[in-house]
Amino acid sequence: MSEVAPGQVVLEVRGIVKRFPGVVANDHVDLQVRAGEVLALLGENGAGKTTLMNIIYGLYTPDEGEIYVMGRRVHIRGPKDAISLGIGMVHQHFMQVEELTVLENIILGLREFGIILDTEKAKRMLEEAFQRYGLRVDPDAYIWQLSAGEKQRVEIMKALFRGAKILILDEPTSVLTPQETKELFKTLRKFVEGGMAVIFITHKLQEVMEVADRIVVMRRGKVVGRLMREEATIPQLARLMVGREVLFRIEKGEARPGEVVLRVEGLRAMSDKGVEAVKGITFSVRKGEIVGVAGVAGNGQKELVEVLYGLRRPTAGRVTLFGKDVTGEPTHRIIKFGISLIPEERVTMGIVPTFSVADNLILEIVDREPFSQKVFDGLRKLSFENIEKYAEELIRKFDIRTPSSKTKAGYLSGGNIQKLILARELSRGAYLIIADQPTAGLDVGATEFIRNLLVKARDSGNAVFLVSGDLSEVLSLSDRVMVMYEGEITAVFRPGELPIEEIGLYMLGAKKMPKEEVERFWE
Ligand SMILES: Nc1ncnc2c1ncn2[C@@H]1O[C@H](COP(=O)(O)OP(=O)(O)OP(=O)(O)O)[C@@H](O)[C@H]1O
Ligand SMILES: [Mg+2]
Repeated sequence: MSEVAPGQVVLEVRGIVKRFPGVVANDHVDLQVRAGEVLALLGENGAGKTTLMNIIYGLYTPDEGEIYVMGRRVHIRGPKDAISLGIGMVHQHFMQVEELTVLENIILGLREFGIILDTEKAKRMLEEAFQRYGLRVDPDAYIWQLSAGEKQRVEIMKALFRGAKILILDEPTSVLTPQETKELFKTLRKFVEGGMAVIFITHKLQEVMEVADRIVVMRRGKVVGRLMREEATIPQLARLMVGREVLFRIEKGEARPGEVVLRVEGLRAMSDKGVEAVKGITFSVRKGEIVGVAGVAGNGQKELVEVLYGLRRPTAGRVTLFGKDVTGEPTHRIIKFGISLIPEERVTMGIVPTFSVADNLILEIVDREPFSQKVFDGLRKLSFENIEKYAEELIRKFDIRTPSSKTKAGYLSGGNIQKLILARELSRGAYLIIADQPTAGLDVGATEFIRNLLVKARDSGNAVFLVSGDLSEVLSLSDRVMVMYEGEITAVFRPGELPIEEIGLYMLGAKKMPKEEVERFWE
């Protein structure tokens, strides 16, 4: 791509239409992208954002419409075409070869395009890119050793090395810590100052106000708003996105905690990398309360959740449910004991992508009435009619946007997969709900809905254990909060008891409450 003037339209789509069975994902979309701008693309779950970006990146062929790059009509038949036109994309769910190093990954990414670089040269170029743009990663680290945020940096560097002038980022911040998000935004600003164009998809309106120059809002496949950042407000963007007023408020009264449902004592567990990730923690969750975990991702929250759900064996300590020892029980037993999990890793852990939406909704309860009836011992007959009815009801109640209950779950948009899992987990009558990042990737309307639902679950007598990287979510939902840092509980409090700055100090390990005080809190 030759030199461009700031403000020049580098990419334009006109009248893009893309239909999938039962849904018009893009309905005559027009979009212009200019050099030197960060364009935020907003829209509710299933609005068609990823589809539009996949079309621009050559992954889907549009049914109608035209694409222009630098004013010239182009036909993008695959990512190779897109890349040679200077378009780069970092996906919502990305895949990398885990056994390669960062450097090897980048070199391999170039070789596909006929560019051969030796290791030394590549290393020097990478160092230059880090100097200039930030987003540093150890070039010799293996991909499997990296956090999600670091993997994303590799993807961005790959796009840059392939000569991207138009960079598409599909919900990049959903896997980032607040600090990493700040770093990414700094880099994006440097990119656009250097004449690149960035298309940035997010559900976090605060981020839009922070980093975007211009905003385009989509709803149900159509563009419903275009505005400059200066003229936008958060309530107005929310209204444009979901087509109704969003209150950003949770209806929540006093908790009425009852008996202890979950008790964890001196629990220890190792991480996949072989280091101790959970270091002797003790806490409990009662009926009718929400206990929230605040902390920067990677401080043992993931391993703790996995132990509670029977996916990881603890090395020491005890887990009891209603006083019954369930330490080390496998998942299928844990489910029978009445624990529900809303997992962080949705696509890999939460659903079977090739099963229908209906089948995914009854995944763990298919052996119960009325979904199947006992014919004789060990043999049950499925009632497709009852499964269908139940699925239809949940689809309506949880507003899962799907063409039908028979659609394969893997075809749903990111946020709608999340709603499917929530619908299933909140509806199967568990006593304890473990919610790991329950609203990550959800649009503002769905976020509000889910948060209210967790409070309702609490009020109807469930115990809720909430893990979230969103501190304001933890503080607004929880009745009791614990902060995790390097596998330990470094603070316990009730929302409102501590100022935010002090909570930050506990989250970063700069401050720690005495162990006795932490343990006494749960008695
Ligand atoms: N490969 C596919 N096959 C069938 N339907 C699809 C496919 N890809 C997307 N869809 C449907 O197209 C619509 C738009 O989905 P898309 O993924 O573009 O939404 P999105 O705006 O990115 O949402 P989210 O914020 O939840 O990621 C949805 O109804 C989705 O179910
Ligand atoms: Mg998407």
